[in-house]
Amino acid sequence: MHSLYSLFMQEDYQLKEKKSMAVICASTVREAEAKKLAAQLQLPFHTAAKDVAGVDYYLVLSDAHLALQKTGPTAPGPLWVDFVQGANDYRRRHGGGRQQALARAVGLKSKTGLSVIDATAGLGRDAFVLASLGCDVLLIERDPIIGALLADGLSRARDSEATAMIAARMRYQQADAATVLAALLEQARPDVVYLDPMYPVHHKAQVKKDMQLLRELIKTDPAEAKLLALALEKATQRVVVKRMHAAPPLGNQKPDRVMSLRRHRFDIYLTA
Ligand SMILES: C[S@@+](CC[C@H](N)C(=O)[O-])C[C@H]1O[C@@H](n2cnc3c(N)ncnc32)[C@H](O)[C@@H]1O
Repeated sequence: MHSLYSLFMQEDYQLKEKKSMAVICASTVREAEAKKLAAQLQLPFHTAAKDVAGVDYYLVLSDAHLALQKTGPTAPGPLWVDFVQGANDYRRRHGGGRQQALARAVGLKSKTGLSVIDATAGLGRDAFVLASLGCDVLLIERDPIIGALLADGLSRARDSEATAMIAARMRYQQADAATVLAALLEQARPDVVYLDPMYPVHHKAQVKKDMQLLRELIKTDPAEAKLLALALEKATQRVVVKRMHAAPPLGNQKPDRVMSLRRHRFDIYLTA
């Protein structure tokens, strides 16, 4: 795993500017786990929130979950990944199953059990939808902080009866997807590569609350066009890119199909 501080120093890294972070343990029984996480991420460790004065963000491990918290009076609430309850659970039960746009975009209408690489996994919401519809999903996330939240959410999903089978179809890898795709062997090529890179928005109100926090940490990636090229080379069926309506196609490459929705669109590139 990359050190957060060394990544801060890299010009092309996704964090917008140097942000100070720390890990806090708010559990009486998980201190060793929190310390291990802090060591992995090369972040300072503290036992109480009052000790982290001066940091911009902290990761807090409680009995319930791992959450990312911004500091300061106008900070939004904590961000954590929950596949068992809340929005992910609601979408699983009421999202429209195989009729929903994401399912149709990846080609689930006519096929079952697709293998998908979600190359920009983020908080894993889209990957969870695909896995709940029977896809086998490799989630690749480059940012180690987002990745830690995702890994925590997946571990709790594995422990819950309601989501264990779905979580068993989700594998997480902390890496740059371009590196993983480039090294992919012929027999490991997925049916579908799904891309949902960060797109620029002009009005904060366009973005859901949890995504606002993600956006503060991560900027758009100039290497997106390369990611699309690799995805097109490796996907055996199709590449699906989620885009805002106003955004041009990724790498200005015209898709074969466009599925236009209320909030965004899916650009679909057929590779079969
Ligand atoms: C808009 S978010 C994805 C949201 C996700 N679809 C969901 O449902 O939660 C984009 C994520 O892609 C990650 N990302 C961007 N480029 C990447 C790359 N080359 N490899 C791995 N992750 C990448 C960013 O760190 C960010 O977390």
